[in-house]
Amino acid sequence: MLARTASMQDRIAMYNGNALKIGIFGANCSSGRSATTVAERWSASWTDCLKLARMADAAGIDFMLPIARWKGYGGETDFHGSSLETVTWAVGLLSATEQMTVFGTVHAPLFHPLIAAKEIVTADHVSQGRFGLNIVVGWNEGEFEMFGAQQREHDMRYDYAQEWIDVVKQAWQRDGTFDFDGQFLKLREVRAYPKPYGGTRPILMNAGSSEVGQAFALRNCDAFFVATAGSRTSIEGNAKKVAQIKAAAQGIGREIEVYTVGQVVCRPTQHEAEEYYRCAMIENADWGAIDGMLANRNITPQTIPPEEYAAKRRYFASNAIGGYPFVGTPDHVAQELETISKAGVRGIALSFVNYLNELPFFCAEVLPRLVRHGVRVARAS
Ligand SMILES: Cc1cc2nc3c(=O)[nH]c(=O)nc-3n(C[C@H](O)[C@H](O)[C@H](O)COP(=O)(O)O)c2cc1C
Repeated sequence: MLARTASMQDRIAMYNGNALKIGIFGANCSSGRSATTVAERWSASWTDCLKLARMADAAGIDFMLPIARWKGYGGETDFHGSSLETVTWAVGLLSATEQMTVFGTVHAPLFHPLIAAKEIVTADHVSQGRFGLNIVVGWNEGEFEMFGAQQREHDMRYDYAQEWIDVVKQAWQRDGTFDFDGQFLKLREVRAYPKPYGGTRPILMNAGSSEVGQAFALRNCDAFFVATAGSRTSIEGNAKKVAQIKAAAQGIGREIEVYTVGQVVCRPTQHEAEEYYRCAMIENADWGAIDGMLANRNITPQTIPPEEYAAKRRYFASNAIGGYPFVGTPDHVAQELETISKAGVRGIALSFVNYLNELPFFCAEVLPRLVRHGVRVARAS
């Protein structure tokens, strides 16, 4: 039996031979990561999620990463207005798949750590070690008001999250009964069984972009997700950012893998891909939803000059609310993904306007190119 602190190298899909892991991002939320009004926008229904997970698993996709959202952003489509809760969603998908890792995303301030620890262990046993945890502290004030919860000041959110993850890890690792005496959490006679599957623990990720958020990820997590890893076309730009993050982790005696996110519009010709991208993401953008997202960050026509506001709106629409657009032929998309991989990025979580319609072409055309370019391995038949 492995020690319970054993390296995550023993975990299944996230540690396979693919130098570049590929995941699906945001499929549990209506419209996914595309604030668009086009009729084929993503439903996020359970039926569609289940079909997508089975298709992705069979094609060798490495992971699925949901978004923990509790209410929509408004606009014509009420972007993200319908979302499936991520841990229960993950358990359902893990039961229906064989290889991939499925993440659940937990807001530390909203879930008691012992309830979360047990839910996660349950998901981990159901899937024989394929559950991953994305720890988030929350950034959307309106969402917290809905729970009657007061959000802490920014940096203190991560102080709380540190105690939260310490409790979770202790519940996973410590035998017998223990007390926890923190600044925020004071727990008596804690006992938690079973421990995670196979004597190790679920892979942990975080995507904080602030200095304290990054420091939290480096101290506690296996995977650190960045919204943009430098530049899609420059190996040097990406490599520098990845090297900085890895060096900072090594400075505190840890190893961390860097992941990023992106949106794919892949079509047989460059023209078709660019046309569809423009149609879905710009001409039919849900501008009301984009205004709602910006307002959540206190970016409104009242808080910044009009030209700057117009530029932010355009940027948000065209970048799938954060993350690179990979738009083009299979050769083009594969080339850009290879660039990111060569820079040391370990994986990327991708979204599509309609995941079910678009994933088959991506898997049939882009994945084999990535195998030929040496950034992914051929699937064992
Ligand atoms: C890939 C990725 C996934 C994220 N998932 C969520 C999520 O599901 N729910 C959430 O509230 N925030 C999510 N976030 C936001 C981050 O957790 C974080 O709060 C944000 O990047 C701001 O950083 P900061 O907390 O360090 O200020 C995500 C960010 C990224 C880049």
